[in-house]
Amino acid sequence: MSFLHTYARYPLQIETGEGCRLRATDGRWYLDGIAGIAVMALGHGHPAVKTAVHAQVDALMHVSNLYSVGVQTELAALLSRTFGGGSVFFTNSGSEANETAIKLVRKYHSRRGDPRHEVVVLEHAFHGRTLMALSMTPKPRYQEGMGPMADGVVVCRAEDAAAAVGPRTAAVVVEPVQGEGGCRPVEVLPELRAACDAHGALLVYDEIQCGLGRTGSLHHDPEPDIRTLAKALGGGLPLGAVVAGPHLADTFQPGDHGSTFGGNPVACAAGLATLRTILDEGLVERCKVAGARLRAGLESTGVEVRGVGLMLAAVVGEAAPAVVTAMRERGVLVCPAGPDAIRFLPPYVISDAEIDELVTAFAGAWDEAGSS
Ligand SMILES: Cc1ncc(COP(=O)(O)O)c(C=O)c1O
Repeated sequence: MSFLHTYARYPLQIETGEGCRLRATDGRWYLDGIAGIAVMALGHGHPAVKTAVHAQVDALMHVSNLYSVGVQTELAALLSRTFGGGSVFFTNSGSEANETAIKLVRKYHSRRGDPRHEVVVLEHAFHGRTLMALSMTPKPRYQEGMGPMADGVVVCRAEDAAAAVGPRTAAVVVEPVQGEGGCRPVEVLPELRAACDAHGALLVYDEIQCGLGRTGSLHHDPEPDIRTLAKALGGGLPLGAVVAGPHLADTFQPGDHGSTFGGNPVACAAGLATLRTILDEGLVERCKVAGARLRAGLESTGVEVRGVGLMLAAVVGEAAPAVVTAMRERGVLVCPAGPDAIRFLPPYVISDAEIDELVTAFAGAWDEAGSS
């Protein structure tokens, strides 16, 4: 076997995709209820993204960050306009965006003559697999054998997190809606904002999975100091970003941080086409409306549903793997979320008929594999 054994893959080889459908090498088309784990917001093969990528490949694929590239500048400007005049640093992944955010947080405090490195995170959080990101991901299964973890990470239940913020806290890092942890909306964001303000700590939203409109909103109130993005941002190519509030614009100086591929022109072309389409075609609102339909359909089967917009989890307990398999046999792809749920993260462009198809497959699978 030519791979390290990190992935327990499903027994399917995917060869092409169109809209919300994927075709496997067995010739069968599947409805994609997971969109490459919250990546393919516009579905597969969207013409705007394909055209932009093809043109960028023809023009220029890579020059590094030694030079400016128009498409990168345009995407940074659009992100800045979308997110309150923030300043952008591009990365290749979500984990790298979170690593960057923590370096920015540390530098901010150090430049103010008050070095701090303590970070408050929530239980059920997932912030990535690189070492700092993993240290902020309090899941023993993921951390086991990988230690030592980074120093100064304080893990709290959501209801205890504001009280854990103090004069040594550098930042609170939180997913406004926890993704891998099972589509759990975090209800204490105002309390976290107030605690950060009271103690001079920074509030960082990891919007890597829940950002860019999937929850039916581009903004999760109150505003953070820093947000991290990835997944949907690259429209299917590897791209992440840190968007830091205007008060942090001068925190990094040349040489403080960098990334060879971060902001790659082809990835930025895909990202620009994706973000423009999301904004111009009202797809954030569509996530809200489509999400309400999906939620109602799932709830009609009697299960508890967690989440917001098109980021939903059906709580099915230990039956989760069996329900995923039974849905796949019915031609619909989903995956588990946390230990007790399965996740629905379809493309924003999913139609009402496709939502109903998801629900019908879930109902049948749950009936067969789970509810007994
Ligand atoms: C909320 C959140 N943060 C960070 C990450 C890590 O992103 P990546 O896998 O691109 O490093 C993920 C990936 O699932 C995520 O959902």
